[in-house]
Amino acid sequence: MKRRRFLTLAAASLAAPAALTRRAVAAEPGAPLPIPQVMEVGPGAGNTLTAMKGTRAFIDGAVSDTLGYGQDYLGPLLRFRRGRTANIDVVNRTDDPITGHWHGMHVPGYLDGGPQLAFDPGRTWSPELPVDHPAATLWYHSHVHGRTADQVYRGLAGMIIIDDPDITDPLPRDYGANDFPLIVQDRSFDRSGRMTYDLGMMDRMQGFLGNEILVNGAIRPRLTVPAGLVRLRLLNASNARIYDFAFADGRRFHQVASDGGLLAAPAAMDRLRLAPAERAEIVVDFTDRSAVRLVSRNAGSGGMMGGGGMMGGGGMMGGGGMMGGGGMMGGGDAASLDIMSFDVGDAAPTGPAVLPDTLPADRPDLGTPVRTRDFTLNVHAGSMMGSMFNDAIGRDSQMMGINGNSFDMGRIDDQAVPLGETELWRIGADMMTHPFHVHGTSFQVVRMRGREVDPDRIGLKDVVLVEGPTEILVRFDKPAEKATPFMYHCHILEHEDAGMMGQFTVL
Ligand code: C2O
Ligand code: CU
Ligand code: CU
Repeated sequence: MKRRRFLTLAAASLAAPAALTRRAVAAEPGAPLPIPQVMEVGPGAGNTLTAMKGTRAFIDGAVSDTLGYGQDYLGPLLRFRRGRTANIDVVNRTDDPITGHWHGMHVPGYLDGGPQLAFDPGRTWSPELPVDHPAATLWYHSHVHGRTADQVYRGLAGMIIIDDPDITDPLPRDYGANDFPLIVQDRSFDRSGRMTYDLGMMDRMQGFLGNEILVNGAIRPRLTVPAGLVRLRLLNASNARIYDFAFADGRRFHQVASDGGLLAAPAAMDRLRLAPAERAEIVVDFTDRSAVRLVSRNAGSGGMMGGGGMMGGGGMMGGGGMMGGGGMMGGGDAASLDIMSFDVGDAAPTGPAVLPDTLPADRPDLGTPVRTRDFTLNVHAGSMMGSMFNDAIGRDSQMMGINGNSFDMGRIDDQAVPLGETELWRIGADMMTHPFHVHGTSFQVVRMRGREVDPDRIGLKDVVLVEGPTEILVRFDKPAEKATPFMYHCHILEHEDAGMMGQFTVL
């Protein structure tokens, strides 16, 4: 009996890729898109976000261990209003320390929920957030050093919408009717249908890529929309995957907001790339009533500089590779992944029938920089190879860094960035592309891949994909003291956990 079982297991592991393919495709996609419940967060008690363990059958009959906020996976949609204080109790009912990080929100360091603010199981963290942020789509997630990738992967994340009562948003804004949150994540499922997170050497090096797509926690779901303009708030909450979103019928759509809020004007496009942690709000026209799939034209993480490298388009994990057309994701043409599908229903469209020419963007004039700071994101491939053979080093090993240093909670990398002064940050990377994120503010990208960009089209950002010399104008209007500094880091979560992160004070 024992021997037979062993043989079965051995055969199973040899056959794993093919079996995986069949299993994932056999999983019935097309469940209705789950719409996260809204939690309006204002002043006073009663707004509770309880991080807890759970289980979910993403695939029928296969139960996965998960984490969520008051539910089995992900959390409610938090709505904050600009100018109003928000009190929230973050309760830790998991087995590990967590933090409550408000990604993209402009709050002082002691409210930011960075790694220094980790709190233990059984404890509650109760920040009072002065909400001083333009209308935007942000998100929240746990941010414990060395555990962020695992915790976010298992479900400790959710979306935030900031409303600004002083602007009239001329866009679709009926939540759940013509304004939808889309939290896009890739996850891996084994042949039994259970969600897994096992980091191999490639995953540590380029970030973890899953073999299925979840939107709001459901596999490639289906959404019925009215025959009018529909606003989609896209959040890439994947650990490492970069999406190149497009509609399967090639239809054009308009981007209306990026990480930090509204653009100056709707920008027409037919594809939109979103790196981990980036957000984009788009408006899609469904008046012609035709159903359509949302796809991602590429598959993989950013890859090596220059695109033609090992992990780029033609490479191992790219379009032609393991996760490509014939592969696990199902559907689509050779180089695309199915994300979800849209049907047009009979509900009468509400909201505007046409897009305005301009939007009430709220972007500060950052002026000219008073100083420059340089950052190089380092992948130390040598020691990473080593870690593959040494489990003892494992997840907590410091294999990556910034400016030659791996993250050290006891070291402030940049002391006292002056409050209220604009700086030019020049960011480069020595091997792969990386989504670089800065806490505590939104910044203006002025140069990407070494070329000047139009700030009006890009809008305010808190994550920028570094694919070559990148320059941002950045100014901090919120302080961060030594005990609770702000962070900058790669938002490929496996890189962040491996030390591609630094911290700085703002005084
Ligand atoms: Cu999404 Cu340091 O954060
Ligand atoms: Cu953040
Ligand atoms: Cu990285």
